[in-house]
Amino acid sequence: MKSFLSALFLLITPALGSALSSRVDGVPAGFGHSVTGGGNATPAIPANISQLRDWLTDNQPRVIVLDKEYDFKGSEGVCENCSCCQVSTCGDHGQDAIEVDTGWCGDRPVIECTYDKATGIDVASNKTLVGIGSQGVIRGTGLRFVYGASNIIVQNIHITDLNPRYIWGGDAIYMNDCDLIWIDHVKISLIGRQMISMGFSSSGRVTISNTDHHYWTILGLGDKDQVSFFNNWIHHTSGRSPDLGSVSSWHIFNNYWSNDTGHAFSVTSEPAILVEGNVFHDVVTPTNPGDGYGMFVTNASTVAVCEEIMGRPCPENVLTGSGELSPYTTNNETSLATIAKADETNIDIKPVSQVQAFVVANAGIRKIHLNSTSVRRDYLKRRAHWRH
Ligand SMILES: *[C@@H]1O[C@H](CO)[C@@H](O)[C@H](O)[C@H]1NC(C)=O
Ligand SMILES: *[C@@H]1O[C@H](CO)[C@@H](O)[C@H](O)[C@H]1NC(C)=O
Ligand SMILES: *[C@@H]1O[C@H](CO)[C@@H](O)[C@H](O)[C@H]1NC(C)=O
Ligand SMILES: *[C@@H]1O[C@H](CO)[C@@H](O)[C@H](O)[C@H]1NC(C)=O
Ligand SMILES: *[C@@H]1O[C@H](CO)[C@@H](O)[C@H](O)[C@H]1NC(C)=O
Ligand SMILES: *[C@@H]1O[C@H](CO)[C@@H](O)[C@H](O)[C@H]1NC(C)=O
Ligand SMILES: *[C@@H]1O[C@H](CO)[C@@H](O)[C@H](O)[C@H]1NC(C)=O
Repeated sequence: MKSFLSALFLLITPALGSALSSRVDGVPAGFGHSVTGGGNATPAIPANISQLRDWLTDNQPRVIVLDKEYDFKGSEGVCENCSCCQVSTCGDHGQDAIEVDTGWCGDRPVIECTYDKATGIDVASNKTLVGIGSQGVIRGTGLRFVYGASNIIVQNIHITDLNPRYIWGGDAIYMNDCDLIWIDHVKISLIGRQMISMGFSSSGRVTISNTDHHYWTILGLGDKDQVSFFNNWIHHTSGRSPDLGSVSSWHIFNNYWSNDTGHAFSVTSEPAILVEGNVFHDVVTPTNPGDGYGMFVTNASTVAVCEEIMGRPCPENVLTGSGELSPYTTNNETSLATIAKADETNIDIKPVSQVQAFVVANAGIRKIHLNSTSVRRDYLKRRAHWRH
C-alpha cells in the first residue's frame, strides 16, 4: 500500500511532489471524491493537545498525524454540580441529560451532575487528520467543522469518551454548512450524543466510509447534503442509524448493520435514498414503521428496476433475523434517478455476499496500512534531514 510510508520517503527528496494519495490510505470515492484535505502540506505530529487544537483551527492547509492519544478531558474545565435532568429510570444503565440553552429538560426531574466542558474543536478548511496504526486517539472532545468549512479528511482516528453518561454530552463529528468532507476508517465510541451529526444547512459533498459505530449513529438533516455511505459497520445501536430528512441525496451501499435493538433508518421527508447491497443481521427495526420517505430499497424483485435506471448491476439487500427494510408505501424511482445522475466517482459496489466479511475485517481504525514503526523512523529521518 503506497500510503504514509511513501509520502514520508518522498519528503526526504523534496524535489518530488506528492499527491494526496500518498498522505492518506486509498483515494476518496463517492460524492467526496475531489477532497484533497491538507494536500501537499508537510505531515507533522502535534506535540500536545494545544498544538493539535491550534493546527486544526488555524487557516493553513495541514496534514496532521496523530501517533498517540490526545486527552482533552478537563482541558476546558469541568462543570461541577451543574444542572442536569433525569431522563430514564434505568438506574445506572440509563442516561441523564445536561440542561442546554434550549431548555430541553423541560419538566423532567432536575439533578446535579458533573461533566467535562471540552466538547468540540473547531476544525477549519483544508485539513487532513490521520492516525498511525491504532494510536491516533482523541479523547474527551469531538470535531466541529466550522460553519462554511470545506475540504477536510479525517482518517484512521478513534474519537472517544465524550461525556458518555449524558445526553447533550457532545457529538463526535459535527458539520453544518460544509463541503467536501471524507470521513474514513474512523472509530467512534463512548459518546453522549451523535456519532456524526449534520446540521440543517447543507453539508455539501460527503463520503463516510469504513467507519465503526455503535449507539446513536448518524443524524443527517442537511438541505442538499450529498452523502456516499459505504463499507461502514453499524452495530449495537438503539436508534438513528441513520436518521435522515430534508432534500438531500444518500447513496447507502455495502454496509453491515448488526445487533441493533432499535431502528436503523428513520427517514422524514424527503431525501433521495438508494439502499443497495447491505447486510442486516439481527436488526430489530431496519426501517422505522411508516417512515422511509424517498427510499429505494433493492430486493430480489426490485433489482431489475434499479439496474435499468442505474445502468449497472444493483446488488440486493440481505436481511437475517431482522424486521422489514421497506420504503414508505412504494419504492421511489425518482430517488433512483437522482442518485443515477449525481456526480459520484470511483465507487466500487461489491456483491452483497462479500459485505459482512469485508466490513468486519476492514471498518474502524488500525485496518489500513500505515506502519507505525517505519513511519516513525522515516519521520525522524526527515527531521534530521531538515536540520542539515
Ligand atoms: C505544546 O507543544 C508546543 C510545541 O512544542 C509547546 O510550545 C507548548 O509549550 C506545549 N504546551 C504544553 C502545555 O505543554
Ligand atoms: C458539589 O457538591 C458536593 C456534594 O454536595 C460538594 O461537596 C462540593 O463542594 C460541590 N462542589 C462545588 C464546586 O460546588
Ligand atoms: C483552501 O484551499 C483552497 C485551494 O487551495 C483555497 O482556495 C482556499 O482559500 C483555502 N481555504 C482556506 C479557508 O484557507
Ligand atoms: C450478535 O448477534 C448474534 C446472533 O444472534 C449473536 O450470535 C452474537 O453473539 C451477537 N453479538 C454480540 C456482540 O452481541
Ligand atoms: C420520491 O422522492 C422524491 C425525492 O427524491 C420526492 O420529491 C417525491 O415526493 C417522492 N415520491 C413519492 C411518490 O413518494
Ligand atoms: C421487495 O420490496 C417490495 C417493496 O417493499 C415488496 O413489495 C416486495 O414484496 C419485495 N420483494 C421481495 C422478494 O421481498
Ligand atoms: C513495520 O516496518 C518495519 C520496518 O520496515 C518492519 O520491521 C516491521 O515488521 C513492520 N511492521 C508491521 C506490523 O508490518
